[in-house]
Amino acid sequence: MKISDISNNFTIENGKLHFSGVEIDNIVQKVGTPTFIYDAETIKDRYRYLRDNLPKEIDIFFAMKANPNIAIVKQLTSLGTGVEVASEGELYACQKAGVNPKNIVFGGPAKTDSDISKAIDMGIYAINAESFGEIKRIDRVAKSKNVIMDVELRINPEFEIDGVAVSLGGGSKKFGMDSETIDGIIVEAKKLKNIKLQGIHVFAGTGIQNNIGFLSNLENCLKLAKDINDKHFKVESIDIGGGIGIPYGDDEPEFVIEGLKEKIEALFKKYPFVKENKTRIIAEPGRYLVAQCGVYITQVVDKKHSRGRDYLIVDGGAQHLLRPALIGTSQPTFNLSKLNSTTNKKFDVGGSLCTSIDFLGKDLPLPTDSEQDDYIGVFCAGAYGYAESMPFFLSHDIASEVLVYSGKHHIIRPMIKIKQMVDIQSIPEDL
Ligand SMILES: Cc1ncc(COP(=O)(O)O)c(C=O)c1O
Repeated sequence: MKISDISNNFTIENGKLHFSGVEIDNIVQKVGTPTFIYDAETIKDRYRYLRDNLPKEIDIFFAMKANPNIAIVKQLTSLGTGVEVASEGELYACQKAGVNPKNIVFGGPAKTDSDISKAIDMGIYAINAESFGEIKRIDRVAKSKNVIMDVELRINPEFEIDGVAVSLGGGSKKFGMDSETIDGIIVEAKKLKNIKLQGIHVFAGTGIQNNIGFLSNLENCLKLAKDINDKHFKVESIDIGGGIGIPYGDDEPEFVIEGLKEKIEALFKKYPFVKENKTRIIAEPGRYLVAQCGVYITQVVDKKHSRGRDYLIVDGGAQHLLRPALIGTSQPTFNLSKLNSTTNKKFDVGGSLCTSIDFLGKDLPLPTDSEQDDYIGVFCAGAYGYAESMPFFLSHDIASEVLVYSGKHHIIRPMIKIKQMVDIQSIPEDL
């Protein structure tokens, strides 16, 4: 994969990487490493491409768990997305980013009364309930505030989507309510006075690799919704989840979305209740919108050879970008200090943690003359990078986040010095 395959806005001029015309080396020299740098134009391009290829009936809600930085949330909501949140913290971030609460849905397991209370106070579009117990708690909290809260029922369907990386539907799951139990749950839930059942939510998997998977998920959601609409209540919203995948390597396909609009429109015609009810269809992609906008940059601290393998040891690693260590596959990785280099050899790029899982990649073709102080860039790091980090292991400083926007760079989260985290700890006086 070439850097320019990841985004049209990524260019190499005089051997230096640029995001939308802004030189990345200059930024790194100012902010230091490790850092995540995001390109706002790329986010815009991804959103526009998806928006243009989905029918207008589908609202796009950004699953902010993929990248919860409020600048990213602000950019996407300004472009026209809503937001899918999964915690009180994410609700607070939405407030700070000025998101219209009517374009927020709140999903995810283990919602506390405090989470529910905040969602109700903000007046969000719907809470996606994960269990009958949670429905009862939403009702109780809403009753204490003398309001009626809109609820979407998260259903664990019988189906699994073909070609997903991680399946979240089918079988026994901690998410949602099993589809075969839903009739009974609805009957009981309808007796509650402070909730309104308004829709369903299904999130069957992440990393959907082709539009067959997307369409079959949508059709299954429509079938479930029709059944509920016929039997129980007017279905006013169907949240079809997120999960659209992106290629992390040459061997992974790009999700083809051209032609999807017509196919979805044809599907809607088979389910006239959608038009009759003016049902709001919500898709909640995370990775698809933001993965490709970001690069994670670390600096080589050490170069070594051990029993037949060459290593570059960098000042970041799995504490900030967990995915390569977690699933054992690398992301597009380049030596940003030697982009014009023509001879490569294989390196393992190891991080700064005292664990053997801490690699940004193994057997990566990198310039033969890679050396200490070079900047190593791991691409497609805009989703589930910073957000999935486990920053406290080994007490290193926490990477900064930078947004390239409108010809300039903005530090949207400074490096968090671990000293701050040590300073808030305390030792019992008599220890
Ligand atoms: C409920 C829900 N919606 C949306 C998403 C976003 O998924 P993706 O980033 O794969 O689009 C997730 C991811 O875990 C999720 O749990």
